[in-house]
Amino acid sequence: MDLPLGKWLFSSLGKKLVVAITGIILVSFVVGHLLGNLTFFFGPDLINAYALKLHALGPLLWVIRLALLATVVLHIGFTMLVWKENQAARPQKYAVNAPIQTTIFARTMRLTGLIVLAFIAFHLAHFTLHLINPSYATLHTDLDGQQVHDVYRMVVLGFSNPFVSGFYILSLALVAFHLSHGIGSLFQTLGLSSQTLRPVYEATGRIVAWALFAGYAAIPVSVLFFGLGKGVRP
Ligand code: HEM
Repeated sequence: MDLPLGKWLFSSLGKKLVVAITGIILVSFVVGHLLGNLTFFFGPDLINAYALKLHALGPLLWVIRLALLATVVLHIGFTMLVWKENQAARPQKYAVNAPIQTTIFARTMRLTGLIVLAFIAFHLAHFTLHLINPSYATLHTDLDGQQVHDVYRMVVLGFSNPFVSGFYILSLALVAFHLSHGIGSLFQTLGLSSQTLRPVYEATGRIVAWALFAGYAAIPVSVLFFGLGKGVRP
């Protein structure tokens, strides 16, 4: 491989690798964020302490946020480049109009990707920027003698609204749809493609995606249907 890095990055393999590596980073974030969110089930102190630790990172948190944003931009940009290349390579007319054997998860990647993006925009406006309910910014509680943001109460109040919970659960299902195919194809792109192992990759992608869905969806479901956090409601 004698191509300079810039040229190699935009080669067929380079583009696919950028999509795969940025995909791995984003999946790692989704797994890490879920592990942090699961502290919700252990009461207010744990999730509030976790949020406090995150915010205490100060400038480093901004570096992480910007790196995450850059990863999302690269993932989308290079996905579009790969898609354009595939379109260009596709023969214009088929002798027989036989659709390529593919799954609904694969066919809807661009649509579910866009919906994931819209969900993240709403989610940031909701729980990070407090634009949807500005009163969320004023929720504070005592943690070991210190006044901290009451993330626990914010999540309980947010998910007590059936429309908000319904919207999250639907969006989380679409995130799982996207990851279901995405994780499976990561293995292929990373050069691990093999006809025998393909079903294993696909099954792994599906299991991981729907396990993530179950973990995330358990939060709104437990608030809305099982009265979790009832005590902190206004
Ligand atoms: C039930 C599901 C979810 C809950 C309860 C939840 C909870 C939260 C909370 C409480 C925050 C604000 C943290 C703070 O500033 O103190 C947050 C931030 C965030 N969430 Fe979620 N989240 C969920 C699902 C997701 C999913 C599926 C994604 C990505 C696909 C995601 C991506 C983010 C991002 C990017 C941030 C901003 C982090 C930052 O820079 O501060 N979340 N989430």
